[in-house]
Amino acid sequence: MCGIVGYIGHQSAATLLLDGLQTLEYRGYDSAGIALAPGDGAFRVTRASGKLINLRNKMDAQDPATLGIGHTRWATHGRPTEENAHPHRSADGKIVAVHNGIFENFLELRKELQTLGETFSSETDTEAFPVMVSHFMKAGLGFREAFHRALGRMEGIYALACLHADDPDRLLAARSGPPLVIGLGEGETFLASDVVPLLRHTRRVIFLEDGDIAELTRTGAQISRLDGSRVERPEQHIPYDPVAAEKGGFKHFMQKEIFEQPQAISNTLLNRLPIEPGEPIPLDLPFSNEELKALQRIHIVACGTSWHAGLVGKFLIEQLARTAVEVDYASEYRYREPVIPEGTLIIGITQSGETADTLAAMKEAALRGARTLAICNVMGSTATRAAEASILTHAGPEIGVASTKAFTTQLAVLTLLALRIGEAKGTVNPAQKEELLQGLRELPAHLEHLNALEPQIMRWAQKYRDASDFLYLGRGPLYPIALEGALKLKEISYIHAEGYPAGEMKHGPIALIDKNLPVVALMPKDAHREKTLSNLQEAAARDGRILGLVTQGDHGLDGIAEDVLELPDVHPWLAPILYVLPLQLLSYHIAVLRGCDVDQPRNLAKSVTVE
Ligand code: G6P
Repeated sequence: MCGIVGYIGHQSAATLLLDGLQTLEYRGYDSAGIALAPGDGAFRVTRASGKLINLRNKMDAQDPATLGIGHTRWATHGRPTEENAHPHRSADGKIVAVHNGIFENFLELRKELQTLGETFSSETDTEAFPVMVSHFMKAGLGFREAFHRALGRMEGIYALACLHADDPDRLLAARSGPPLVIGLGEGETFLASDVVPLLRHTRRVIFLEDGDIAELTRTGAQISRLDGSRVERPEQHIPYDPVAAEKGGFKHFMQKEIFEQPQAISNTLLNRLPIEPGEPIPLDLPFSNEELKALQRIHIVACGTSWHAGLVGKFLIEQLARTAVEVDYASEYRYREPVIPEGTLIIGITQSGETADTLAAMKEAALRGARTLAICNVMGSTATRAAEASILTHAGPEIGVASTKAFTTQLAVLTLLALRIGEAKGTVNPAQKEELLQGLRELPAHLEHLNALEPQIMRWAQKYRDASDFLYLGRGPLYPIALEGALKLKEISYIHAEGYPAGEMKHGPIALIDKNLPVVALMPKDAHREKTLSNLQEAAARDGRILGLVTQGDHGLDGIAEDVLELPDVHPWLAPILYVLPLQLLSYHIAVLRGCDVDQPRNLAKSVTVE
């Protein structure tokens, strides 16, 4: 959701910024723009609605300017038009700014500035900022001072980058909410909303903290606070391979990321499985055994796909650690005045670590005395820095908007966490623990096997691509996977789909079943198999077209299902990690056949930094 890039150096900024924006496309956007500062007192600002190619076509890629800022906008205030695209300028054209977030008091500021004679040309909240900076400069302040003063007037959340047309040696940036990262090069300094655009140029980065103001020059960056005091932020080294953020030989990032799951899960588990039987789970947590033992309840907060991981986590933690778990949508939890008794741990699950609702829900729980833990895929993200403890999923950069490998690695982490808490509480039986650990070790090989089933899934996609609705059914830990399968299909193919607990089908969805409705049934050989089977017989009796996912060698759906996919026989509590993969592939191939924009589905954003 909205991406910012900035550059000050010795190379042509135009191509560098365009390429940087391209790598941020995955966050979701509907217009884009770039301001170049050639240092002659005027900016060259280019903006375009729609995809980046529109912007690229309007720009001179050889422009010699070596300073500039760029932005991809996901519309909040004002339609996604060229006029509303960033960068925004002050009326005198001397200040430009790009902004991620929302200025909540912009109407008030706009009125105040209009009364003082300033004019506006867009519907956005952002424009108030450059106009305010310019206003303070007209009153005699220097650029930096005016920037500080204007920030002091802004309410809401922001990541900002700002330039002055007469100051070719300085790029100012500020963060309060959405992330900003500085990249340090040789004679050049970069700015971006996340590390992905920086990886091609440098691995040396500085994450800005909330309330930081940065002054970027060609030799580095100085950071201060709103009150003017200087602060030092540590330089960090990003280990990602830049190639991990490229498509490789795949057609889409989503397909690549589905196929990366065996490796991603191996990376998640690396150094986190005990070597000898009976050893404790080496999950690096700052909580002692006594503290884990004292946990009375766990609240999980998350959004979207991560919320589905939370539902599987509830199942695992309650089974293995016998601790009560509540799972909430973060956007609901934050406003429902949650009751948080002593001994509560809040777990925020968020692949990006930047989802505004999840961060706010965790903060709310912390204020009410909960201990906090983040399960996250992005090192240095806000969630990992705000929580007392964090567990990284190590899935590598996930670019496709629809989450795949970030989800399965969240499930692997939740399995380890449930075992770790269960160990501390003495609720895990050693044989069960060894069985699950062995199951985890075998997962990457099983996932490889499932990837090889892609041709069969492609045939399903071909057959069912024109359906207008889908129903997904599962029980126990597979119920959240039914929800996730339905979400994946909705997100990328725009087909209406619903996930339901199979046992609940008779209380409503059964009314939808007819010969046109594909019913995707998750039926591994577990304690729920017989019950699910009889639900499917009910669906078949009403002409539903059943697509069954079953354990290898299970013929229970013969004569009932139209299509059956056999999956490896794994521990039932690990089945969610396996069963979701064919559902991801099914959504992917249906979306491709329907000509949808798989990696950047309409209206969706990868990282949702607004409420
Ligand atoms: C957006 C994305 C989803 C994601 C959700 C939560 O809606 O499109 O793929 O599941 O945000 O994101 P998070 O980063 O908190 O896991």
